[in-house]
Order: sequence, then structure tokens, then C-alpha cells
Amino acid sequence: MYILGIESSCDDSAISIITEDGTILTNLLASQIKDHVPYGGVVPELAARKHIDNLPKLLEVAFKKTKLHKRDIDLICATAGPGLIGGVVIGTTIGKTLAQCLNKPFVAVNHLLGHALCARLTNNLSYPFLLLLASGGHSQFIEVNSVNEISKIGETLDDAFGEAFDKVAKMLNLPYPGGPNIEKLAKLGDQNKYHFPLPLRNKDNCDFSLSGLKTSVRTLIIKQQLITEQFVNDVCASFQKTAADHICNKLKKAFTIYNKDFKLERKLVFSGGVAANSYLRERIKKTAAENSFELFVPDPKLCTDNAAMIAWAGYEQYLANGPSNLTFEPKAKWPLESL
Ligand code: KG4
Ligand code: ZN
Repeated sequence: MYILGIESSCDDSAISIITEDGTILTNLLASQIKDHVPYGGVVPELAARKHIDNLPKLLEVAFKKTKLHKRDIDLICATAGPGLIGGVVIGTTIGKTLAQCLNKPFVAVNHLLGHALCARLTNNLSYPFLLLLASGGHSQFIEVNSVNEISKIGETLDDAFGEAFDKVAKMLNLPYPGGPNIEKLAKLGDQNKYHFPLPLRNKDNCDFSLSGLKTSVRTLIIKQQLITEQFVNDVCASFQKTAADHICNKLKKAFTIYNKDFKLERKLVFSGGVAANSYLRERIKKTAAENSFELFVPDPKLCTDNAAMIAWAGYEQYLANGPSNLTFEPKAKWPLESL
């Protein structure tokens, strides 16, 4: 069975073809980063126009590379939200049109489900597992028992981790997207140089908050007379360390909540764009091991937005629930647990 995935929820246009055993035949991505850099962040209207240009071209390349014909595709899966509505309208319209013309089933995929199930594609992971999903728009702890049994046990009260990395980078005049740039400069800095308060330290739940940390970084930068390279590196390292401390502190609480029924499966998945950060991965791996949890992280290229994870999540959804209706309306907001 050949499964086509289409992703267009933010600033990456992506097309993938996979098979039902999880073989990725092609996984193409046209990044729009350089188009949005001059604006310091993603411009939704520009992103939508770029998806119109990119997706048909990527589709042609995907068929050429795999030597498949459009009629060989058995299932068409497109991100239908949450995300920038212009982009998801374009991706789902292309998906629905192909499905209609080829008379093939269509699945409207929740983008977060793509991140959530990605480790099942890459690591062949079985249910159930605890998921830490950290991306540009979401930061959540989720219990994943099956494609239809997903429940959130904690989430950010304000900014998402990726958003906080991007905003701190902007304060330091580093280019968009901030996450990879902060990670790179943090390697050259002293993570103990500045001490930022640990968010929600005394709250006995696994919610996150990043706005206080962001304000502490902003206050430090405003007070600094001379912004040297070393200062920027030290701020990046100290900010990243506090973000990791916050995640690991809440991770211990999430383990307790998740494990209340003494579930035997002690598996943690770290997924979403922020999981591309190797420092955070190492810190999380250590905390997981101390609590007898095994950590699974998809390959960094599959942690950030891609269409292979959309094809896989769509396939699982199709097996469990059948195809979506072609009248399915894309959604800018679409909580994972409301599937
Ligand atoms: O999952 P994703 O590709 O798109 C969304 O669905 O949001 O995540 C993008 C986010 C951006 O905020 C980006 O700065 C962050 O992931 N990110 C990182 C790293 N690579 C990407 N954050 C920290 N460290 C990284 N290495
Ligand atoms: Zn994403």
C-alpha cells in the first residue's frame, strides 16, 4: 500500500510517500525559512502563497523519484490543522482534489497526531507511551494509548518551548528560527553564568510556563551595557539550561501521574521541532533513565515538520476509523484530544 502525506501547516511545504510497513520511499521538504527571515517570523499570507508554488512541484519530484504514478497511491493524507489556516486550506485542497480525481480515500490529519505517532513510524514503538510534544506552537504531556485514546495530562500555560526559543533568539538579534541558533551558540557559552528562576517550581502538576523565564532574559539583556558575543553565548546557554531544568522537573511529575496505575510500559517519546535539540534530548534521557523510563526520539529530520509523519498518522487513523469525509473543513485550532 502506498500512502501519500501532505504537510503545509506552517512554513514547511512537504510531501512524502511511505508504505504501510513504515518504509519511507521519499520525504521531500521545501523550507520557506529564507522567505520569512526578513520579517523575523512566519508571515501567514506569504507562507500560503509559497505552499501553492511548492506543493505541486514537490508532488512531481516525489513521483519521479519513486517511479510511481499518481494512480498507484492507495491513500491520501493531508494536515488539516491546527496551523496557519491559509496553508492547511491549500494542503487539504490538493489532497481532496487528488482523492476525488483518483477515486482514493482521503484522511484529514491532525498535525499534532503526526508528531505524536512519529516514533511508531521511526522506532516501531508499540502503545501505550507517554509523549512530551514540544514544538513552535505546542508544549504538552500526553498519554497515548491508541490512535483513538489520547489524553493530555499537562500543557503550557502561555508560550510553547519553540516559541520561547524563537522569542529569546529575537531579543538577542539572532535569525529566525531561533531554536537551532540558540542551541549552536549555547555550546560556546557558560550555562551557569546567569541564574534564571525555575518556572512553576512548587506547583504539583506537569504544566509548563515560559513567560516568566522570557521576561527574566529580557530584563537581563536590557540591563546589559555591552552586548558581546560572549554575553550572547552565555545567555543562550543559561536560558537553554533553565528550559531543560523546567522540562526535567515537570517530567518527574508527569511520570508520577502517568504511572498512577503502575503501567508496565515505561516508555517516553520526545517529539516536535524542539526535540531536534541534542542538549535537551540528553537531559531528558538522563531524567528518564533515573526514573526507569526508556526514551524514544525520532530522527531530528522527522522531529521537525515533515510529511512522512502525516502519512503515517493518516494511515493509522484510516485503519482505526476509515477515511475522512471530503467535506472536512480545515481548522486553525484543533486540540489533539478532541479527535
Ligand atoms: O514542530 P515544528 O517543526 O513546527 C511546529 O509545528 O511548530 O517546530 C518548530 C519549532 C520552532 O519554534 C523552532 O525554533 C524549534 O521548533 N526548534 C528548536 C530546535 N530546532 C527547531 N528548538 C530548540 N532547539 C532546536 N535545535
Ligand atoms: Zn509541527
